[in-house]
Amino acid sequence: MQIEDIRNICVVGSGSMGHQIAMLCALGGFETTIQDLEERALQNAEAKLHGIMDKWVQKGKISEEKKAEAFGRLTFTTSLEEAASGADFIIEAIVEKLDAKRDVFAKLDGIAPPHAVLASNSSTIVNSLIAEVTNRPDQVCNMHFFFPPLVMDCVEVVMSEQTSEETAQLAMDVCKKIGRTGVLLRKEISGFVANRILGALSREAVALYEEGIADFEDIDTICKKALNHPMGPFELMDLSGIDVAYYVSAQRFAETGDPADKPAACVEEKVNAGTLGRKTGKGWYEYKQPEGAKA
Ligand SMILES: NC(=O)c1ccc[n+]([C@@H]2O[C@H](COP(=O)([O-])OP(=O)(O)OC[C@H]3O[C@@H](n4cnc5c(N)ncnc54)[C@H](O)[C@@H]3O)[C@@H](O)[C@H]2O)c1
Repeated sequence: MQIEDIRNICVVGSGSMGHQIAMLCALGGFETTIQDLEERALQNAEAKLHGIMDKWVQKGKISEEKKAEAFGRLTFTTSLEEAASGADFIIEAIVEKLDAKRDVFAKLDGIAPPHAVLASNSSTIVNSLIAEVTNRPDQVCNMHFFFPPLVMDCVEVVMSEQTSEETAQLAMDVCKKIGRTGVLLRKEISGFVANRILGALSREAVALYEEGIADFEDIDTICKKALNHPMGPFELMDLSGIDVAYYVSAQRFAETGDPADKPAACVEEKVNAGTLGRKTGKGWYEYKQPEGAKA
């Protein structure tokens, strides 16, 4: 298969990542179907996308006509069958839990046409762990977008030992067509490159906070003012979702058994309290109203 053969893309999961990935695909000219278990999640996704795209029109980033065309290519459904049965390329963006992803991939393998590529947007789970439930491990890869996908340019495209060159090339070509810079990683490692580096920084920041060396606001200020980071590690956790940081650590701990990878107590506390960052109006910081990132 070549990029010209990809007409229909299915995005599974319409949360923080999925709805914006689907919009990118529709803007890139693909007929795109976005699927979620929850009707309400789909309604939220659609409303948020209209809000973002209206702002793009106001700012002159896109014409009213192009916006309408893109929405004309975007379909919302709760039916996986409807979303995946005609798809040439599928991007999964559901909750960061291995069992849930394996379950979806097994279903997709049964529903999607034999030629379809199955990509996971997981932040950390290598595709070989997911591909083994399918009969097409050569057509499985990771496509790791960054939050918020309508703003962040990079996508890590990750191969397993079984991912074919054709699959990797198609994923890279999809990135190009939707205006994103794909970086191809030929060796899979949990967390890939960006999140391994970010994880090291975040672990140290949380350890310094938990040991009482510095307050989280001061750690953020030092990272911004001394290291020139655009955002401190705690601000970034609030932006991405503290639950996402928690699941990423929990998944890595499940894989390595290394106590250093265990989710930090202060992060677990926030997840248990439901204070997950910007999306809930409170995380490390307080926000006037729950909001997604401004895209
Ligand atoms: N949030 C980030 O910063 C970020 C960045 C990069 C990658 N990711 C990855 O993207 C994926 C999604 O993260 P998110 O932040 O969008 O999560 P989210 O919780 O905002 O959204 C997940 C969505 O998936 C839906 N869902 C759950 N199980 C499903 C199923 N079986 N079938 C269909 N839909 C299902 C939920 O209803 C929800 O709407 C995760 O793998 C995460 O690691 C997240």
